[in-house]
Amino acid sequence: MVPAANPNSPRRHGDTEVATAPDHEDLAILGGKPVRETMLPYGRQSVSEADVAAVVEVLRSDWLTTGPKVGEFEEAFAAAVGAKFAVSFSSGTGALHGAAFTAGLGPGDEAVTTPMTFCATANCVLYQGGTPVFADVSSDTLNLDPDRVKEKISPRTKTILPVDYAGHAADLGALMGIAEQHGLIVIEDASHALGGEYQGRRVGSLAHMTTFSLHPVKHLTTGEGGMVTTDRADFAETLRRFRNHGISSEARQRQSAGQWHYDMVLLGMNYRLPDINCALGLSQLPRLGANLARRRAIAATYASRLAGLPGLILPSTRVGVSLAWHLYPVRLDPAKISAGRDEVFRALRAENIGVNVHYIPVHLHPYYQDRFGYRGGEFPVAEAAYAGLISLPMFHAMSDQDVEDVIHAVGKVLEHYER
Ligand SMILES: Cc1ncc(COP(=O)(O)O)c(C=O)c1O
Repeated sequence: MVPAANPNSPRRHGDTEVATAPDHEDLAILGGKPVRETMLPYGRQSVSEADVAAVVEVLRSDWLTTGPKVGEFEEAFAAAVGAKFAVSFSSGTGALHGAAFTAGLGPGDEAVTTPMTFCATANCVLYQGGTPVFADVSSDTLNLDPDRVKEKISPRTKTILPVDYAGHAADLGALMGIAEQHGLIVIEDASHALGGEYQGRRVGSLAHMTTFSLHPVKHLTTGEGGMVTTDRADFAETLRRFRNHGISSEARQRQSAGQWHYDMVLLGMNYRLPDINCALGLSQLPRLGANLARRRAIAATYASRLAGLPGLILPSTRVGVSLAWHLYPVRLDPAKISAGRDEVFRALRAENIGVNVHYIPVHLHPYYQDRFGYRGGEFPVAEAAYAGLISLPMFHAMSDQDVEDVIHAVGKVLEHYER
């Protein structure tokens, strides 16, 4: 659905309608009236009355954790992404840790991954005593560049760990090819890409293991939560054990079998996703298609109405990829506007548009600099992108007026700073 144009906001340049502000509008950061009265967040959950009822039903039941809702949610999730197995975790971070464990990552092993991600992607390698080895990204998608990955493969490499940045699937065809050639396991961090597609296949069915986050800003939520999908039964079994202290059976199975004995067979964690949360996810799952459709419609509106604004580079989509649009990251071209990213960021926030930045490249965080000696300059494509990145609000519950407000504010701010 394309929102109705705000009569104050867009005007026509030649044949193209672009978002601009009336000339007299002062920026809010300079004392003018903000585009909105209240802050629009960059991401937000939507919870229906049916979701609330589903959670309440579990609260009144016998099982608050590891009861029947866990298996039901996992089965429905696996079917939704076209994988044989789905194993739930208490967060996307736990899911990544479980996948790193299951891939057999250990001390001395390396995982080639992207610097353009949330730190949890690389941290899971450290949890296992391995070393994350960063490779630079492609400048169009900001996803791992397979040519840079090839340069980083060593005899110690065990895993390739791509991220589907913003919901655009990584170049899985090329990465799975490299993995096959070197006998590696691919863990796809699809925290941004639930519902995305690559070459006609669903994200979640492409890599050896795919991890998801079910945090409230994602396509569906369990509050906190995560999932790993895989087609390998042995991986699914290890993942289930790892999230439950390394124990080979679950309390409910023992209760129904009238047994008390259990074996701890590996060193696991408690990463269980409670029934309360699984009930929420199960209730939300049927809306995934509608949520994606809304996100795609918002992205299409942004793309058509923001095109042509000074200094604005819009996200690109490769042929054969259907994006899940977790984020809508735009980049600023410093040659065309007189303000840097941080100033534009502050100006948009002053208009009450809750922009964000995704991401500080992981190797630039103090922990990684102190531990591995990174100083900046190692991954020029990721670092150059970061300098201009701003995420515009993108969530399925955005109203048409919210979308208009973003378009209005971005036009107002960029026209002000146009060189
Ligand atoms: C790319 C990526 N990986 C991992 C995570 C961690 O997920 P969680 O917050 O569910 O632990 C996130 C969180 O947003 C993420 O964006």
